[in-house]
Amino acid sequence: MKEKISELIKNNPVRVFGLVYPYLLVIGILIGLYYISNLDQLARQKVPVVLPDTTKVEDLPIVAGKIIPAINVTEISQVSQTLIDKGRSLYSTNCSSCHGENGAGTGPASVGLNPAPRNFTKLEGWKNGAKLTQIYQTLQEGIQGSGMIAYEFLAPEEKFALAHYVRTFVPDPPMDTPDELTAIDQMYNLSAGQEVPSQIPVSVSEQIIAKEYESAFIKLTNIRNKILAERNNEGAKIFEKISINKIKTLSLLNNSSDTWKRSKDKLVNVLVSNFDNKVLSSSLFSLSDNDWNVLFNYLSSLF
Ligand code: HEC
Repeated sequence: MKEKISELIKNNPVRVFGLVYPYLLVIGILIGLYYISNLDQLARQKVPVVLPDTTKVEDLPIVAGKIIPAINVTEISQVSQTLIDKGRSLYSTNCSSCHGENGAGTGPASVGLNPAPRNFTKLEGWKNGAKLTQIYQTLQEGIQGSGMIAYEFLAPEEKFALAHYVRTFVPDPPMDTPDELTAIDQMYNLSAGQEVPSQIPVSVSEQIIAKEYESAFIKLTNIRNKILAERNNEGAKIFEKISINKIKTLSLLNNSSDTWKRSKDKLVNVLVSNFDNKVLSSSLFSLSDNDWNVLFNYLSSLF
């Protein structure tokens, strides 16, 4: 048998290939199938490590301007029925789902939270603490790594009302020292109030500016067409004579219309002081007083 095979290879290699071919085919198909079934895996391994795209600049978010009213911290640190009532109503809409109506930290949304919502009816385990200023801080900043988010969007007065209400659950709640009250006042500018200016993304402001340019351009083109249509008007003739780049001349006039529209002399002033031989012709300097009057009246009618 051994000899037969070696003889066969020697004498008739093509026939050997013919015999082996089906096996090669099957092996090839199997490798192919294996490859396809693992395509997901293989493709995933080829995915390059995702690097942060440093070329992408995050734009500013839209922020509506608002005024954070000033509060008197000493006054608001005194518990009152009004504050408690306000706090109770805020608590039941914002907090009771986790902390429970009874403050024991077992509200319906507390299930599965780790760490669990604070049980206000005990003094153990508080991270920031149960003083008024400490609860204020918890509401302002939230507690990192927990379900306790920041409620900084609530007005300062609302945060104090909530803090007062939360403290009604706490047995013998600790009191703030005057220094601590002063510190929180300074930290969050409470007695000064604060004005938060509106903010729009840069991309939006660019669009607005582009729109403004666009409308200025349309305005100038319209004026230009009007001047062309009124070619026989004396004023239009003078304009054609003194202007080389018509749109730039009109743009100059448009941008300084507040100044030159006041008088003929101001118009002379604006055009002479902005003289640029690519925009204006030097024939400007040989206009008679009457020409200037005509030009002034004509341009005033256009802008
Ligand atoms: C989504 C659930 C959830 C809601 C809603 C929620 N909290 Fe909490 N809160 C928690 C959790 C969880 C903790 C515990 C955090 C920890 O131990 O790290 C916590 C802790 C606290 C603490 C204790 C901070 C400390 O010093 O340890 C206070 C005070 C508090 N919450 C007040 C409030 C108030 C007031 C509201 C409503 C405006 C509110 N929470 C809404 C989940 C919630």
